[in-house]
Amino acid sequence: CQLDKWAKAAGLKYFGTAVDNPSLNNAAYMKIARDKDEFGQITPANGQKWSNTESGQGRFSYGSGDAIANVAKQTGQLLRCHTLVWYNQLPSWVSSSFSRDQMQRVITTHIQNVAGHYKGQCYAWDVVNEAFEDDGKFRQSPMYRAMGIDYITHSFKTAAATDPSARLYYNDFNIERCCNAKINATLAMLKTVIAAGAPVHGVGMQGHSRVGKSPSKPELKNTMAAFSLLVEEVAYTEVDIRHTKLPTSAADREQQARDYLEVVGACLETPKCIGITVWDYTDQYSWIPGQYPGEGEACLWDKSFNKKPAYTSIISMFQSA
Ligand code: G3I
Repeated sequence: CQLDKWAKAAGLKYFGTAVDNPSLNNAAYMKIARDKDEFGQITPANGQKWSNTESGQGRFSYGSGDAIANVAKQTGQLLRCHTLVWYNQLPSWVSSSFSRDQMQRVITTHIQNVAGHYKGQCYAWDVVNEAFEDDGKFRQSPMYRAMGIDYITHSFKTAAATDPSARLYYNDFNIERCCNAKINATLAMLKTVIAAGAPVHGVGMQGHSRVGKSPSKPELKNTMAAFSLLVEEVAYTEVDIRHTKLPTSAADREQQARDYLEVVGACLETPKCIGITVWDYTDQYSWIPGQYPGEGEACLWDKSFNKKPAYTSIISMFQSA
């Protein structure tokens, strides 16, 4: 029983996972990560971010990103490339005091180089990541301060010109559960930038949530229906569902399985939903405990590579789809 194999049988394009650089040396980890029937797609968790690819202005380095991209090359897994323009993991030389023209040139150079380096390797690029606050206001990133919404249009146009075969995504969190201020703001932004000529092909809903408080299938489907009116495809790009109390009971893990099924079921029932990516497959490498101390066990495999009820439930749902 393997996730990607059954996801494809159920009509999806892929089931994928994030892979981070430290885990590349872990043979037990890589055996599963490289199993193409388990994961038809991988995403570098950090390797392609601005702080890794252009830590100093005009100094480009691709070692971390290439290490993950090379796995996909060897296995034939799809690569979701992540991410070109994001306020976080942004080197401090990308400054809020840049003029509009300076910022536009900096973004152009960054995208031409990074998307150019990976040209032809990326099924998709998360071109712009997390442009909004949860209240729907634009994040006051250096890019937004310098250029306003035009930084988004410019980023998509530049990415399209650089790698015409990549699917270009806008990616964010807390845009899963219909409908909130952030989803409304995202829809409005997409309409504006598409009208201005930005080729946005997809919306990535990250899908980080909490056990027992996770969005329901109808809420998820309503959101995807709204995005589907504007773009060609949607995907869950960073799914993990964390427990807020540890250790967990068997009942907690069953609840987690039900929560995962809401996401998987919503995707299966949405024509434009093409795939699901988990934000790492094992608790051993999850970002959650580092960011939310005391919370975790969000992944489909525990830290010793045992599959959880959520894994088994997802397989069953794919098999009966
Ligand atoms: O590279 C340094 C290393 O030199 C240093 O010794 C170490 C000490 O803390 O930190 C390392 O940097 C860490 C980096 O991951 C690389 O491992 C950062 O502290 C840590 O904050 C960073 O976390 C990443 C996080 O993005 C940053 O916001 C997570 O691994 C990564 O999984 C996470 O992924 C994001 C997506 O890109 C976007 N959506 C949300 C998602 C979860 O936050």
